[in-house]
Amino acid sequence: MYINSGSQTTVFVTGGAGFIGSALVRHLIRKTSASVVTIDKLTYAGTRASIEPVAHSDRHYFEQADIANASVVNDLFDRYDPDAVFHLAAESHVDRSIDGPAAFIETNILGSYTLLEAAREHWRDLESSRAEDFRFLHVSTDEVYGELGDEGYFREDTPYDPSSPYSASKASADHLARVWQRTYGLPVLVTNCSNNYGPYQYPEKLIPVVILKAIDGEPIPVYGTGENVRDWLYVEDHVRALRTVMEEGTVGETYNIGGRCEKQNLDVVHAICDVLDEEYSAPHGNSYRDQITFVEDRPGHDWRYAIDCSKIEEELGWSPKESFESGIRKTVRWYLNHRDWCRAALDETYDLERLGADKTDA
Ligand code: NAD
Ligand code: DAU
Repeated sequence: MYINSGSQTTVFVTGGAGFIGSALVRHLIRKTSASVVTIDKLTYAGTRASIEPVAHSDRHYFEQADIANASVVNDLFDRYDPDAVFHLAAESHVDRSIDGPAAFIETNILGSYTLLEAAREHWRDLESSRAEDFRFLHVSTDEVYGELGDEGYFREDTPYDPSSPYSASKASADHLARVWQRTYGLPVLVTNCSNNYGPYQYPEKLIPVVILKAIDGEPIPVYGTGENVRDWLYVEDHVRALRTVMEEGTVGETYNIGGRCEKQNLDVVHAICDVLDEEYSAPHGNSYRDQITFVEDRPGHDWRYAIDCSKIEEELGWSPKESFESGIRKTVRWYLNHRDWCRAALDETYDLERLGADKTDA
């Protein structure tokens, strides 16, 4: 499925107003000739401001819709007649899934099921050459594999062992996506990616929380001992990987995507503080590191994630390009220069307070 093929290609991006989805939409409009339909419910995590840079394009369409609403989703397939679906829409934050799992079940499981069924009906009615080229890329997470100890890596055949309501709901959706390929023949591919960072990430995740707490002069919350390990990938690298898998991946296969960039959380926080010290020195003159505060751990906090991404590297020729040092500097600068976007993302329902733990411990 080549997005820049001779004929005009139409792709759906669910969750296209979120962090990774909006990066994908901006990429597809800027770097391909495809028509792109962003389908997004605009929950707290989605905003049209994130796709505003490409909103002027006559190849971009925006549809505010809930992927769990079957009649609405069927109507979108009828109206736009897409050639491919990048499925990213999800409730994505582990801490929120601890506080309120219902939305995770509804969107991540029922929503994915609804979208798969609508895609299947659409695909069944396509004429044969278009049906052969049609693709459904289900975008998932490495958290479905559970946690690692100090050694080892997640591979595509690592058994699923999710720890949080979020990762359990993503694991369920992954199973459904694979089954829609095995049982019904829908041309599904699945990707499982590590922690992304970069511009436009909703400020509930570690990196934007640290940046905003730091410059607001507030305690920077580090869960537990700060020794948990994540594998960090710059969001633009993830977007390139998704396009590569869509275009070159084998139907029915799973591809792990990672940054080969393992870091303890405390090292990530130190890196952010050091960039801020250089670029936005604190009024009190001390290092931002002085604001680091260890807080109660996340329940069920996975110890370590690390991706073996050799399959996508060797079979499809993708590899991460951005170094953590340059990526984190770009990210910090973006947040410093986009305070309006950050302010608009926060409101009376959420203003950077601790989630996923008893509020008295915040
Ligand atoms: P995000 O929370 O920033 O964005 C999710 C988007 O989905 C939002 O725009 C939201 O409005 C939309 N959405 C939520 N429920 C919806 C519904 N019912 N119908 C339509 N739209 C809905 O998430 P993200 O970090 O951009 O993650 C995107 C996808 O990538 C998710 O599937 C996530 O599981 C996966 N993923 C994320 C990471 C990461 O580090 N952020 C890593 C690996 C995989
Ligand atoms: O691994 C991929 C996953 O990465 C994605 O599937 C999720 O959608 C995405 O949110 C992310 O999950 P994490 O739970 O790893 O990300 P988060 O930014 O919430 O936390 C990263 C680490 O930092 C984790 O060990 C918890 C810790 N943390 C987090 C926050 C918000 C803190 O120490 N302090 C914080 O304030």
